[in-house]
Amino acid sequence: MSAPADAPAHGRIDWHGRRHGRRLRPHRQDLLAELLPRLRVQLPPAGIVLDPAALFPRRPSQLWLEIGFGSGEHLVEQAVRHPEFGFIGCEVFVNGVAALVGQIEQRQLANIRVLDDDARPLLMALPEASIDRAFLLFPDPWPKTRHAKRRFVGPANLATMARVLGDGAELRIATDDVGYVRWTLQHLIGHPDFLWFATASRDWRDPPDDWVETRYQRKAVAAGRQPVFLRFQRRHRRGNTR
Ligand SMILES: C[S@@+](CC[C@H](N)C(=O)[O-])C[C@H]1O[C@@H](n2cnc3c(N)ncnc32)[C@H](O)[C@@H]1O
Repeated sequence: MSAPADAPAHGRIDWHGRRHGRRLRPHRQDLLAELLPRLRVQLPPAGIVLDPAALFPRRPSQLWLEIGFGSGEHLVEQAVRHPEFGFIGCEVFVNGVAALVGQIEQRQLANIRVLDDDARPLLMALPEASIDRAFLLFPDPWPKTRHAKRRFVGPANLATMARVLGDGAELRIATDDVGYVRWTLQHLIGHPDFLWFATASRDWRDPPDDWVETRYQRKAVAAGRQPVFLRFQRRHRRGNTR
């Protein structure tokens, strides 16, 4: 780990959201006590850059990041499909973290690491261009205008996301909230660091070929809400022709 000149300071971050749900079953509590510490991403002190590849037993060929993985089904399925990649999942909801850790144990997965906390300090600690794909799937929409500053998509998080995504890396956002679609496109269309993949309506109406349905998505569809799939590419940095 080294401290680069442009390393951002980890400022205090206000968190708005639910951290605990139903009481955990004893086995889930044991998993949190025993297995989670072995999977947990330890954030370095402010100003020090994390080496994410070193979190895994073997250096992964790609690093994928999921912010707000809920109960972790999507993260687990992607990790099963791509055993050579490393996956980092962030979630503040303790019951969701316990569900993910249970699946990691059951399926004996060695390529997932977990931050059971707010994703933003992790984003600040990651090196530039270290992430090959990032997922933000059905983020809390915070639909009231006065709560808009709590939405994950916003100028500060997009700047950090642009810093950590590699050239050509994909940022995948899905939502069932029309207001959040509008908000996301307002922030990302014309953004200097991102390009929207869509050329036709099927590009946002239909899921990408490798899509894994999430728990929240199933609930949204059952309630009659239409998911929207937004895929953005991190533009190549100037002078980098890779
Ligand atoms: C509506 S749920 C969707 C969960 C899952 N992605 C799915 O589609 O089933 C949004 C999740 O994002 C988590 N979340 C929101 N902001 C977060 C943040 N800054 N860092 C980590 N997790 C966050 C919440 O705890 C919640 O579990």
